[in-house]
Amino acid sequence: MRRLACLLPLLLATPARADDAAMLELADKSRCTTCHDVHEKVTGPAWTDVAKRYRGDAGALERLVVKVREGGSGNWGDVPMSPNKRVSEANIRKLVTWILALK
Ligand code: HEC
Repeated sequence: MRRLACLLPLLLATPARADDAAMLELADKSRCTTCHDVHEKVTGPAWTDVAKRYRGDAGALERLVVKVREGGSGNWGDVPMSPNKRVSEANIRKLVTWILALK
């Protein structure tokens, strides 16, 4: 148990992996990947660029969860992201948390 407690801060500080298979599968299942790639701009911005833009922005997670769910435009250009209402809020939160921690 004590050993686990020592490891925890280390785990939390580890950046999210761009090749995290479970997250990539969730992104695929949620149809995010019809418009997004981790490294390349497609219809939507590259997720590594999203992570860069909001690094250190404590309110970004909550704002982006709403934005992904409701859709919207204006932060990366005029092309809107359509609402993603078929995806549960819990899964959107998981995805955005992962995206924001990408390097
Ligand atoms: C129909 C295409 C499309 C789909 C599907 C899509 N996106 Fe997007 N996404 C976009 C576009 C276009 C933008 C840029 C919007 C803007 O300029 O504000 C964007 C922006 C974003 C941003 C940054 C938002 C901001 O305001 O900076 C995040 C995070 C994001 N998408 C995550 C996701 C996730 C997670 C999913 C899947 C649940 C998803 N997107 C599905 C097109 C899409």
